[in-house]
Amino acid sequence: MTDMTLNGEAVSLDVEADMPLLWALRDHLGLTGTKYGCGLAQCGACTVHMDGHPIRACVTPVAAAEGRSVTTIEGLGGDHPVQAAWIALNVPQCGYCQSGQIMAAVALLERTPEPTDRDIDQAMQGQLCRCGTYPRIRQAIKQAARNRVQEKSA
Ligand code: FES
Ligand code: FES
Repeated sequence: MTDMTLNGEAVSLDVEADMPLLWALRDHLGLTGTKYGCGLAQCGACTVHMDGHPIRACVTPVAAAEGRSVTTIEGLGGDHPVQAAWIALNVPQCGYCQSGQIMAAVALLERTPEPTDRDIDQAMQGQLCRCGTYPRIRQAIKQAARNRVQEKSA
């Protein structure tokens, strides 16, 4: 049994300890917003947060979540400032990579509220998008950062 906090709720998972967290989220907990892309920590489609840090759920065993706080795209609630910027700028194309992109962007803005292009490059370099939405992702991160700064100064 693995006990964790998932999107703010206490959860006990009765699955094999070495099962990838991505499998548990999708198949056992019904949280299908997190996607399977490569299964090899190469694409970022499966990005979730563990204790606020972005991790690749496809290569993270469930046991690693014991006592930790895990947040998935569902945990952002739909009206997170980053999601609002994504919608305002029509970032997604097919959409498959986008929950991972958003989770990586949220983690970036948590630790770097006003990121430079270089900060964005470094944080997002492992987040692949076959549709090539990278320019809109960059714009949306900057817009979300501006919105957050304006909210704080209002
Ligand atoms: S599915 Fe996890 S990094 Fe690609
Ligand atoms: S929007 Fe299609 S893979 Fe990124």
